[in-house]
Amino acid sequence: MTGREKRATDPADATLTEPIEIGGVELRNRLYRAPLLECAGNGPDAVETYIDELEPAAESGAGLIFQGASIVTESGGCAAPNMTRVHDPAFVDRLSALTDRIHDHGSRIFIQLAHGGLRSMSLWHSEYRTRNPEEGQLAVSEPPVQLRAADRAGLIDLDPDVLSTAEVYDLAEAFGRAAGYAADAGYDGIHLSGANMGIIQQFLSPYYNDRDDEFADGVRFLLAVRDAVREHAGAIPLVTKVPAETAAPPFVRTRLDRDDAVTIAERLAEAGYDALVPVECSVYWDMSLIRGAYPDRAWAAEELRSEYAAVFGSRLRARAVSLLNRLQARQFPAEPGWNADLCRRVRERVDVPVLCEGGLREREHCEAVLGGPEPAADLVGLGRPFYAEPRLPARLLAGKRALCESCNNCTVPQATGEPGRCHTPRIVRRRARLEREGAYSSE
Ligand SMILES: Cc1cc2nc3c(=O)[nH]c(=O)nc-3n(C[C@H](O)[C@H](O)[C@H](O)COP(=O)(O)O)c2cc1C
Repeated sequence: MTGREKRATDPADATLTEPIEIGGVELRNRLYRAPLLECAGNGPDAVETYIDELEPAAESGAGLIFQGASIVTESGGCAAPNMTRVHDPAFVDRLSALTDRIHDHGSRIFIQLAHGGLRSMSLWHSEYRTRNPEEGQLAVSEPPVQLRAADRAGLIDLDPDVLSTAEVYDLAEAFGRAAGYAADAGYDGIHLSGANMGIIQQFLSPYYNDRDDEFADGVRFLLAVRDAVREHAGAIPLVTKVPAETAAPPFVRTRLDRDDAVTIAERLAEAGYDALVPVECSVYWDMSLIRGAYPDRAWAAEELRSEYAAVFGSRLRARAVSLLNRLQARQFPAEPGWNADLCRRVRERVDVPVLCEGGLREREHCEAVLGGPEPAADLVGLGRPFYAEPRLPARLLAGKRALCESCNNCTVPQATGEPGRCHTPRIVRRRARLEREGAYSSE
């Protein structure tokens, strides 16, 4: 194992403002913006959208920014509307305007590379399916019985295309090529979307992976991606989320437990991954990843109701999704730092930085994760609070609590193509007042 005793950069009581390195890249502090969809697409305004979305985080003091998931293939694989594709070097080259801006403010930016696999829009988005009738989903294996039953019941549109061994290597190569384009565009690192029911999690998870070739061991896919990244992007820092499927429903018998996640993390650290982000999640894309309240305001919004019906196939199906949302909000309360215990277990076993995100809203929460006799992590990240306050680091580093209440009203409208932003008027008004009062000035 890569022993805890080998951890080199490890002050026992690291604080949020202390610098740290990931894979040789120096970060000015330990606060990062977790990957969140920017819904920037690939159109003429894409780069400006990214700059508008991410520059405020850099300008206000974030050490590291993880750009939200971008898809490595030319078609398919998008989990939500308006995701960006990064298969085209000419497009990725334009993103150097973004990386320059982030660097001007002393911050660093990693791009997150992804493919949805089964969790692609053709599975769940009725309008998309009608517009793209030929498009199915890349699959690691034949889909699990529960998904096949949901398909027969008309709840989802399953059309799996199980990857051959050669196609798995091609997919890994697509990750590597995109990493090479990103390195050329000035990105400081590569983050892989290893959870959220994307294809990487599907390789890792015994729920999805029933292969009989070398990729029956799902870590082998991450090793193939590593090889491709190293070939195309050299020694650029490489990070991935590592899932523990502890929040899967009880009817899911085969899943990754915490021990599995720790073992995967150890293998990845040994294989040269430069940092790891352990997350407790389900085998599905559900509220275990975005714990918090039922987004009542988002579901009740009159102007979005007919759009939800179009997205989910009918008003009845939209109501069923909303009900599921309500049940899950009860099941997964948003404890501050809900991934900290898993992170601590991983951190005991690896010598690379461990990153913790999920429910952190105060500097005190962050310091608790980073410090104490057994620190849980080396960096801490916040996600949804950046939708509410793009210049959040200025306030958080000054010891103020983030405004975000994890109400999740930012999440559901994205299914209709709405950009990620805070939809809760009380919070939007408070942010405007704080802005007028100069609370986000980082001087
Ligand atoms: C709307 C939305 C989009 C997200 N997009 C991504 C993503 O692209 N990649 C990813 O790894 N995680 C994504 N996440 C998960 C976040 O990175 C983060 O783990 C989660 O929001 C918990 O942190 P928080 O409580 O600070 O929001 C997303 C979360 C939300 C709410």
